[in-house]
Amino acid sequence: MGLPEVLIQAFWFMIPAYVANPAAVIFGGSRPMDFGKKLSDGNRLLGDGKTWEGFSGGILFGMFIGGIQWAIAYAFLPFLSFGQAPSGLFIILLLPIGSLMGDLLGSFIKRRMGIRRGQSLLILDQYDFLIGAMLILVVIEWKWFLNHYLVGDLVYGLIFIIAITPFLHRAVNVIGFKLGKKDVPW
Ligand code: CTP
Ligand code: MG
Repeated sequence: MGLPEVLIQAFWFMIPAYVANPAAVIFGGSRPMDFGKKLSDGNRLLGDGKTWEGFSGGILFGMFIGGIQWAIAYAFLPFLSFGQAPSGLFIILLLPIGSLMGDLLGSFIKRRMGIRRGQSLLILDQYDFLIGAMLILVVIEWKWFLNHYLVGDLVYGLIFIIAITPFLHRAVNVIGFKLGKKDVPW
């Protein structure tokens, strides 16, 4: 596999994790996941920016897109296959869950630092979901992660993903802001 294929593949596998985030913004509702609870530091556990509707809608949408990707790869593009069912489909289920759990962890950390909902925190805002998606693979599907992101030249794909993620994040948030879906363009 040449370098272009490596980079395309690395990006392709992360799509279910990537799309979960903007989907959470679109599905985001009014039921905060922390039920308004504050911790002893006086700050919210997660804040009003993390809702059950956003979390569940984002996860289901990521799984839906992943399912379409799985079918496309199966029918036309074997090099983009997540793997045979059921294990390939299992990866697709994990990615959006990890992504939005990382997003929750990011908000939890921000609240503990006294950073209010919607205020930016560089690096964490851009990477929390990617860290979540990768971590869930490392923990539950280490072999898959190794064989798709670490072995040989595939590591260039991992570097590529890490390099483009802040730009993707920024672009998507500017779009969300322009559409009136986000209060701030980050
Ligand atoms: N959203 C949601 N539920 C989630 C994630 C996101 O409802 N689990 C929606 C919320 O409307 C949120 C918006 O998507 O305001 C943007 O998400 P994000 O930038 O992650 O949240 P912020 O509002 O910036 O809050 P935080 O400071 O906690 O990141
Ligand atoms: Mg934010």
